[in-house]
Amino acid sequence: MANPMKVPFLDLVTPHRELEAELLAVVKKAFSGAAFIGGPMVEDFEREFAAFCDSKYCVGVNSGTDALRFAFMAAGVQPGEIIVTVPHTFIATTEAISQAGAEIGFVDIDEKTYTMDPNKLRDYFEQRCAVDARSGKLTERASGRRVVGVVPVHLYGQTADMDPILELAAKYRLFVIEDACQAHGAEYFSKKQNAWKRAGSMGQAAAFSFYPGKNLGACGEAGAITTNDEEMANRMKMIRDHGQAKKYYHDIEGYNGRLDSLQAGWLSVKLRHLENWNHSRRSLAHRYHQKLSDMRDSLVIPLEASWTKGVYHLYVVRVQDRDALQAHLAEAGIGTGIHYPIPLHLQKAYLQLRYREGDFPVTERVAKEIVSLPMFPQLRDAEQDEVVGAVKEFLAARVATAN
Ligand SMILES: Cc1ncc(COP(=O)(O)O)c(C=O)c1O
Repeated sequence: MANPMKVPFLDLVTPHRELEAELLAVVKKAFSGAAFIGGPMVEDFEREFAAFCDSKYCVGVNSGTDALRFAFMAAGVQPGEIIVTVPHTFIATTEAISQAGAEIGFVDIDEKTYTMDPNKLRDYFEQRCAVDARSGKLTERASGRRVVGVVPVHLYGQTADMDPILELAAKYRLFVIEDACQAHGAEYFSKKQNAWKRAGSMGQAAAFSFYPGKNLGACGEAGAITTNDEEMANRMKMIRDHGQAKKYYHDIEGYNGRLDSLQAGWLSVKLRHLENWNHSRRSLAHRYHQKLSDMRDSLVIPLEASWTKGVYHLYVVRVQDRDALQAHLAEAGIGTGIHYPIPLHLQKAYLQLRYREGDFPVTERVAKEIVSLPMFPQLRDAEQDEVVGAVKEFLAARVATAN
């Protein structure tokens, strides 16, 4: 039997205990005004989060999945058109594509950063697509479908390499929606603009999740979309609210996908701590880097590319016997996760897309070897040392068996 939990994968109790008075004050405020849907707390949070992301507009919604879906719809995607993303992400990215009526296109990830490989994206456009002579639009040759958008996923809190992705998208006139659900506050250095850019400020729009375990997490379900495009922001506001801009005047069919005011109020409280929490995550990540770097022969630690300032939503390492390492850590009372064990193109849900093993080899290799170690702002040095000690013990025993 595994030891009692010594180091949890994630501690959500401590931050809520620390902020209890402020969070309870939000409940009182909501009760006193009885504005539970919409209202000033939602508007305040939208303003604050837009500013945090260096974006003009923020539209609060019910989840990160809604955020993606509403952004695709507001970008004008039509049934059967292709939106391209990566198979190494949470299924919400592709669920949102299908649920917006579009088709999923995949390109593989980069082996070092685990985010969309811009070269693979270029290869897909150049080798498998063609620009239609009459419409000037990009079309996938095999299916005859139009390709209309790209979704880079800023996975684990590190941004995708956005300059080449944005350049390709501009060349082929495609929209870019960032999946920033794991990257609140992450930054990207754009050589093109010679400036650091916040996740959420680079595409036509960006989706954020405030699922409780995220760097900025609600106390329930919540999400948001950021954009600099006023028209798009207005469309997304309508889509989240049954297609109405004015009560009971429905221009389109929309959804019940609003952000409720309690969540918005709690998110405003937590947003004030986000820079500090992200700073702690970065310090912890660097401490892991330092302590694990002598294991480089048998353990791949996360690479922070020169163009990104990561916020370490997850600290993901790679090792040959991943399952054995995970079992060893569980035995030592250390919580871990796998993000994600089955590449999306090989999931049962996508059997009908007829992908086969070998179609996206980098994703497939990575999925077999990754394990996420404990990472949360309140993780103590002594706890982190336990994790490092147990990882090293496992790797040393493996080397001893091999010799
Ligand atoms: C990369 C990614 N995209 C989308 C989502 C969906 O967010 P939500 O769970 O808030 O719908 C998540 C959240 O888990 C995510 O990690």
